[in-house]
Amino acid sequence: MPKVTIDNHEIEVPEGTTILQAARMIGGDIVPPAMCYYTKLEGSGGYCRTCIVKVTKGSEKDPRPIPKPVVSCRTTVMDGMVVENTTSEELLKARRGVVEFLLINHPLDCPICDQAGECDLQDLSYAHGLASTRYKFRRRTFEKIDIGKLIKLHMTRCILCYRCVKVADQITNNRVHGVLNRGDVAEISTYISNVIENDFSGNMIDVCPVGALTDRTFRFKSRVWFTKPIDAHRECSKCCGRVALWMKGDEILRVTARKNEYHEVEEWICNECRFESKDKNKWIIEGPRHITRKSVISQNHYENIDLSKLQIEVTRQIKAQGGKDIKEHSSRVQFEEKSMKALEMAQNSKR
Ligand code: SF4
Ligand code: SF4
Ligand code: FES
Repeated sequence: MPKVTIDNHEIEVPEGTTILQAARMIGGDIVPPAMCYYTKLEGSGGYCRTCIVKVTKGSEKDPRPIPKPVVSCRTTVMDGMVVENTTSEELLKARRGVVEFLLINHPLDCPICDQAGECDLQDLSYAHGLASTRYKFRRRTFEKIDIGKLIKLHMTRCILCYRCVKVADQITNNRVHGVLNRGDVAEISTYISNVIENDFSGNMIDVCPVGALTDRTFRFKSRVWFTKPIDAHRECSKCCGRVALWMKGDEILRVTARKNEYHEVEEWICNECRFESKDKNKWIIEGPRHITRKSVISQNHYENIDLSKLQIEVTRQIKAQGGKDIKEHSSRVQFEEKSMKALEMAQNSKR
């Protein structure tokens, strides 16, 4: 079995494992972000470039480094390979470039976006994004359209990751949408709006890493961090029936599939469970769901926060924003300090 070293952690992995999968086996902060790769979707990955890493040694047989960053979700591990992710300032700079590129046309209208709080792009922008844009041209904009009676498409927010297309191809029994056109006029569309009607189409919403595909039964009902995730299940003839209910008091505001620490769906669910079962009596409640992602979605669920790690992250971000001139970033610094104090208080109150 090939051995690979990622950010100084060595691991032996099965033949054919990609660098991203190997990093996930190690776990923790060394795992590259992934906006288009999705374990459950065949052929996913290779579109967004957020998962790039630096290969400083190709293999034991051929130790030459790979001269350019490679996408970790599509590059297979070789025996003796050495990879740098968080340990390479050069690579982090390249990733900042990728994020800047992803945000060129993106509105970043998080305050009014349903995905806020559980958005991979929001987290990525926070970790690697610039405070301002250098882009001077007109941004692409699109009208919002209904691509079915249950799903609304905000194409302006789409990053063309192709995950929803792969869900439609692989999970539903007929695909009626896809990426039309190419280059800077590429867009997700159905040709004729309002045609996505399929028992499993709601899974497209779950795999969308941004707020481009939204649940029309939940839109604008609540910020996601004001809802409480609860694990529940029911007998269902179409799917596993195991879901996460997002509740406010006794009311079920939305139903989603359960997601793992990489924000990937554990098991697909059908539209009946997702959209038509918002009565609490239809469910057997298992208990509160633990949220693993580091995001505002964990608001009111402060657990095991390592304040020293947070301090390092705050310092890194200030530096990444060109923070030699701290005055220029004073409001950001004050915000971070306030957040840290709030977290400290929350932790102390738990002790
Ligand atoms: S998709 Fe994400 S980054 Fe974009 S506006 Fe919505 S929450 Fe913000
Ligand atoms: S709509 Fe969402 S899932 Fe589909 S390509 Fe765009 S970002 Fe990806
Ligand atoms: S996650 Fe690897 S290219 Fe998108």
